[in-house]
Amino acid sequence: MSLLKVQNLSARIGRQVVLDDVSFDIEPGECVAVVGGSGAGKSTLLRCLMGLQRPAVPVGGFLAFNGQITEFDTSRRSGKPQGIAYVSQNPDHGFDPLKRLQWQWRQTARAVTGTRDFSTSQQGLLNELGLGPLGGSFPHQWSRGMQQRLLVGMALLGEPSLLILDEPTSALDPLIAAQVLRSVMAYVRKHDVALLIVTHDLALAARHANRTAIMTSGRIVEFGETRKLLRAPETTYGQLLVNHRDWNLSANQEATDSVAAE
Ligand SMILES: Nc1ncnc2c1ncn2[C@@H]1O[C@H](COP(=O)(O)OP(=O)(O)O)[C@@H](O)[C@H]1O
Ligand SMILES: [Mg+2]
Repeated sequence: MSLLKVQNLSARIGRQVVLDDVSFDIEPGECVAVVGGSGAGKSTLLRCLMGLQRPAVPVGGFLAFNGQITEFDTSRRSGKPQGIAYVSQNPDHGFDPLKRLQWQWRQTARAVTGTRDFSTSQQGLLNELGLGPLGGSFPHQWSRGMQQRLLVGMALLGEPSLLILDEPTSALDPLIAAQVLRSVMAYVRKHDVALLIVTHDLALAARHANRTAIMTSGRIVEFGETRKLLRAPETTYGQLLVNHRDWNLSANQEATDSVAAE
């Protein structure tokens, strides 16, 4: 059975249709990528999954998560499904620059786990993401890559069965991005967490995602096994996207980088 199933989701901002009859699913522990140009509706899709109704308002469809069905209905506040964690696009909004990282981590941990204690399992989580003790650091004292890992760590505190990342590496340079992705992938594989990742990096999708959805103009125009889909896209838009992006080159580049980094 699917972990997450989204069926016929539509959403609007004012009169503009920003999601148009979107359907897809994710198996337990599976990594699914969503690719497509800017303005395609990728972030809107993720926000709707998280029960957010701004700026886009869902107008139809439903999701089933862990067998529990939630209708996308404007009249009800659907709320965030239990067991899904989400890191939004634009990590600059992730931390309060004036508060120590330790304090921010603890606030999140307390909200999620109900305890004030910084447990060894929390340090274990940080270690798995390649982070040491938080110490007394402020956000600006950490690199963007480390901040991004920490945001992912915060999202993982609640031990979700699905992690949703919106362009987690677009603000990072390629080498740092590859390192962040590697530690996140190692974590989700080890703990059997499913991953839904929005990216403009087709090489990343090719390397990590079992299945990929191609979005344009609020629609998923293709959804299937990543390798097949990127090798032989069926739609005109899919062909444009795959031919336009220099993703094979960047895949080779990143392979070289990771050899150099290890
Ligand atoms: N705050 C907003 N106000 C008005 N329109 C928005 C807003 N945010 C997004 N949109 C519109 O919704 C559509 C989908 O945006 P978005 O989901 O952010 O796309 P993507 O993440 O694929 O780049 C776009 O047409 C965009 O212009
Ligand atoms: Mg976006």
